[in-house]
Amino acid sequence: MASTRRPIIAGNWKMYKTTQEAAAFTKALWEKIQPHAGASLPEIVICPPYTALTTVKTSSADLKAPFITAAQNMESRDNGAYTGEVSPLMLLDLGIRWVVIGHSERRQYFNETDESVAQKTGAALKHGMTPIVCVGEALQDRENGLTDRVIEQQVRAVLTQITAAALPKIVIAYEPVWAIGTGKVCDATEANRVCALIRHFISEYGNAEQTRILYGGSVKPDNTHALMSQSDIDGGLVGGASLEADSFFGIIEQACLVKA
Ligand code: PGA
Repeated sequence: MASTRRPIIAGNWKMYKTTQEAAAFTKALWEKIQPHAGASLPEIVICPPYTALTTVKTSSADLKAPFITAAQNMESRDNGAYTGEVSPLMLLDLGIRWVVIGHSERRQYFNETDESVAQKTGAALKHGMTPIVCVGEALQDRENGLTDRVIEQQVRAVLTQITAAALPKIVIAYEPVWAIGTGKVCDATEANRVCALIRHFISEYGNAEQTRILYGGSVKPDNTHALMSQSDIDGGLVGGASLEADSFFGIIEQACLVKA
C-alpha cells in the first residue's frame, strides 16, 4: 500500500543568497510550479539564511505560492545573553514555523552535539514548530561498519527528549555526511534501508507511520526518481541543487512523478 505521508522537498541554501537573490529565486521557482499547481505537490520548504527568511516568506505570500519558509538552525532557549543566537520566539515572530536542526555542518563546525540537537528539537516542538532533524554517519563510521550504531545513537538522543504524541510532527533527514556536497549520492536501496531503520527506532517509542523521513546528500534531478521510489524515503533535503530554480524544480517534478 502506498504511504499516506505527504512528501517534502526541502532546499537548504546554507550560507548563500542575498535578499535580492532570494526574492528572484522564489519568483522563478513559482513561475515553473504554478502551471502544475492543481497537481498534488509535495510540501516545498525553502531554508534561506536568517537574513532572507522574511524575503522568502513575504515573496511567497505575495505570489500566493504555497512555499514553507524554514530556518537552518535556532537556539533552544527563548531569550538571554547569548550573543549572535536566534531563538524560537524570534523565528515565530517572523512567522517561521519550520526549522532544520542538527545539520552535519552544525555538528561538525559549530560543536553541536546529540544533546544540543535533542534540546533544540524539544524547544521547536514546545513552540509548535516543525523540526527537520538531521542525522547521518561520517565516512569513517561507514567504513568501520558503524553506520547503524551512529544512526541509532543520534535518533535515540532525540527521541528520549520528545513525547510519542510529537512523532507525527517531527521530520527526520537521513544525510550521510560523506554524500553531502560531494556528488556521491547514497545508493537508493541503502538509503532506504537506513530510513527504514530510523522508522524502526521511532516505532519503539510510538507510531512511526506518520513521521516523514527524508534523504539528503547530493540529491539531483537525475537521482530523485530512484530515491523517491523507495518505501521509506518521504522526500529530500537538498543543498547545492536547491540554489538554482531549474534544478530545484527538476527535483520537485521528479518527486511528483513518483509520489503523486
Ligand atoms: P547537497 O547538501 O545536496 O549539496 O549534498 C545536502 C545538505 O547539506 O542538506
